Amino acid sequence: MTPTEYEYLRKFLKENSGLDLSADKQYLIESRLLPLARKAGLAGIGELVQKLQGGARTVITDVVEAMTTNETFFFRDKVPFDHFRDTIMPEIIKARAARRSIRIWCAAGSTGQEPYSLAMCLKEMSAALTGWRIEIIATDLSQEVLEKAKAGIYSQFEVQRGLPIQMLMKYFKQTGETWQVNPELRAMIQHRQLNLLHDFAQLGTFDVIFCRNVLIYFDQDTKINIFNRLARQIEPDGFLVLGAAETVVGLTDTFRPIPERRGLYKPNDPRAAAPKPALAGAAPRLAAMAGR
Ligand SMILES: C[S@@+](CC[C@H](N)C(=O)[O-])C[C@H]1O[C@@H](n2cnc3c(N)ncnc32)[C@H](O)[C@@H]1O
Repeated sequence: MTPTEYEYLRKFLKENSGLDLSADKQYLIESRLLPLARKAGLAGIGELVQKLQGGARTVITDVVEAMTTNETFFFRDKVPFDHFRDTIMPEIIKARAARRSIRIWCAAGSTGQEPYSLAMCLKEMSAALTGWRIEIIATDLSQEVLEKAKAGIYSQFEVQRGLPIQMLMKYFKQTGETWQVNPELRAMIQHRQLNLLHDFAQLGTFDVIFCRNVLIYFDQDTKINIFNRLARQIEPDGFLVLGAAETVVGLTDTFRPIPERRGLYKPNDPRAAAPKPALAGAAPRLAAMAGR
């Protein structure tokens, strides 16, 4: 791969998926894109770049998808799911007692282990949620991972990663070498393709947003832009849950961390934001106008 081809791919990925590759990640591109080029009958990365430049739609999608990292597992990091059960849900159940409905968005849900973990948590607290309307929307950029998430079929290895055996027995059915999530749990989740770089206002507002282990791949400006737009999709008393290596601190004041609840954030009331210097300067004039 020539330096020009590498620069083209870096820019292309940044624009199409947000992936921010440093100058020394040629090996990553090669290990992911060479097999793709070969499968498409192309001589190498150079020809793949030419296809991209020619605007070949399927190649664009394939390159973007091949460069995503889809690593995930059931109840990943455990703590966020403990917080979901012990902090988030009790608060939301209380606050929504009148309307009895909850909306949860699992942004970048990959192959489904994260949204299904949330669905299992909710099932485990079903006594407190009888008669409630619960919506879980799981989105991801990659169509390929969404297909797997929808099917809810996992290998023995995948169900051994993070999933307690009682949950496996209760919510999955074994078919040969694989395990499938039961229909009731599958029906709790709507899977949709969505690129976080694009507008997501159409999804509506949520009580809880899980957006974990995706923003780490983006640069600061992209993270800030996404945080600011997530803030518009979350109820004022809702919760944002980030991955262990992610934070809003130092990037935006649209969210604040919840002390002693690692990974949990609350939206800040935009009206409570510190006055901008221009507004502060206007205060004496306003006071004068008001006769003070
Ligand atoms: C490492 S996985 C994290 C999965 C899950 N949230 C977890 O923490 O286990 C990152 C996911 O983000 C998705 N992704 C990458 N860029 C994206 C984008 N611009 N918009 C939406 N999803 C994206 C990838 O396809 C991948 O499935």
